[in-house]
Amino acid sequence: MEKDVERVLVDEEVIGKRLDGMAREIRADFPDEVILVVVLLKGALVFASDLLRRIPRMLEIECLNVASYHGGTSSSGQVDFLDHKLPEVAGRRVLVLDDILDTGRTLRAVVDRLLEEGATEVKTGVLLAKDREREAEVEAHYVGFEIGDEFVIGYGLDYRGRYRNLPYVGTLKDEAR
Ligand code: IMP
Ligand code: MG
Repeated sequence: MEKDVERVLVDEEVIGKRLDGMAREIRADFPDEVILVVVLLKGALVFASDLLRRIPRMLEIECLNVASYHGGTSSSGQVDFLDHKLPEVAGRRVLVLDDILDTGRTLRAVVDRLLEEGATEVKTGVLLAKDREREAEVEAHYVGFEIGDEFVIGYGLDYRGRYRNLPYVGTLKDEAR
């Protein structure tokens, strides 16, 4: 697996330090409240598990299966909700976690959906935000790292379902695509 990595963009230690900071920001924004966290699968799996263990507070964790890439290296433009049932968010403030903000369509669709379901407020956190123009207007309240507009893998992010378990974020060699 490692032989397919072209360049390490954010290493494990740097990610860990930044997650400490993000956890502090989130704690400060949800004082004395049970935080309802919605984790977008599968990309945010690794990020969320490392981040949420840094928040020593009462949490409820829900997952939402969404798909937008359908296997390739660019967004398909369509966001599919794959679950039969959405988490119960009515009357709650919600924190949504995703791996990366790219076109913005995924987060926009999820935020809209949760608000429709009655969430009183939806905050968003992403490990990575690509430096590019968004195709959907959306705000990420907690951002781990801003990166260039290139395709990345690792730490939850995949190429055709693989590389999610790399402990760092990197780029993929052309010959591995
Ligand atoms: P958006 O809807 O275009 O913002 O894309 C968000 C989703 O696309 C993320 O949840 C990721 O699953 C996927 N994605 C976007 N950029 C990358 C990337 O560079 N590598 C792997 N997955 C990505
Ligand atoms: Mg994904």
